Amino acid sequence: MKEQLEQIQAQALAALDAAATPAALEELRVRLLGKKGELTAVLKQMGKLSPEERPVMGQMANSVRAAIEEKLEARKAEIHAAVLEEKLAKEAIDVTIPGKQIALGHQHPMNQVLQQIKEIFVGLGYQVVDGPEVELASYNFTRLNIEEGHPSRDRSDTFYFDDNDSVLLRTQTSPMQIRFMENHKPPFCMLAPGRVFRKDEADATHSPMFHQIEGLVVDEHITMGDLKGALITMMQKIYGENSVMRFRPHHFPFTEPSCEMDMQCHKCHGTGEIDGQVCSTCHGEGWIELLGAGMVHPVVLENCGIDPEKYSGFAFGMGLERMAMGRLKINDLRLIFDNDVRFLNQF
Ligand code: DAH
Repeated sequence: MKEQLEQIQAQALAALDAAATPAALEELRVRLLGKKGELTAVLKQMGKLSPEERPVMGQMANSVRAAIEEKLEARKAEIHAAVLEEKLAKEAIDVTIPGKQIALGHQHPMNQVLQQIKEIFVGLGYQVVDGPEVELASYNFTRLNIEEGHPSRDRSDTFYFDDNDSVLLRTQTSPMQIRFMENHKPPFCMLAPGRVFRKDEADATHSPMFHQIEGLVVDEHITMGDLKGALITMMQKIYGENSVMRFRPHHFPFTEPSCEMDMQCHKCHGTGEIDGQVCSTCHGEGWIELLGAGMVHPVVLENCGIDPEKYSGFAFGMGLERMAMGRLKINDLRLIFDNDVRFLNQF
């Protein structure tokens, strides 16, 4: 029996040393110490021993059990530590690995120019307003003195929503003049940027959707000189103090007189050619058209309940994309709308 106990102890300690997982340990515990375990089986044979042998064997069995229990606890702690170690190693974070770059965006180049223009006009005392893109023909055309049958009203130019051509996508920001004058008494200076829509095929200089910035100033004694002062001030702030402007007579139904404002081409300085070649920026014109403007037509003032005998005003409308293209030297309008980051990152 002594040998049996010694053998159990030796085998048990070796098996415990070999066990590598908590589950293997538990299995061994049951096998060695459980009710149906090996040690219990040996103890059951104690009855067969002589009275002198019994306490000796009993003591020995107890010390075997104690040794196994002690070893079991020790291995439990070791395995627990090993498992923890492995887990920590697996979850370890290498703080020296460079972090992932988060790509930060920035304001779209067109909005940069819009922001700049707004700031200039706010500095001149203008109020910035917003208005509907779905507009009534009466605001977009009729009350702006654009008569029935005018080419710009044609279905081939304008997106209409209904059969009797009364609701449309605004083709210009000029209806904001009417909307503003309906609700405000002069004097006022307003600026209305926004999207406009025309049935144009997209090419380097056309898009079915683009942006305009409308301006309107009405007060007593407003003259063409005020118009020129405001517009030249703005353009020189954007294109530089030395940029050269000209005003050229034009026709718009809602202004009288009307004009267009051009800037001398910054590439060829007005000559229309560079090294004997036609200038590609102004196409040989020497000038770049920037905006339409004029003195508000008395009929338009009357249409909004403002007395044209007492008040006068000027208005202007410019294409934001055109301004941005000139300011940032972009040669194709479609680049502005494509939103290709390789393009946008340049600004
Ligand atoms: N609305 C005109 C257009 O889209 C631009 C324009 C011209 C606006 C003269 C004005 C103006 O306010 O006075 O072509």
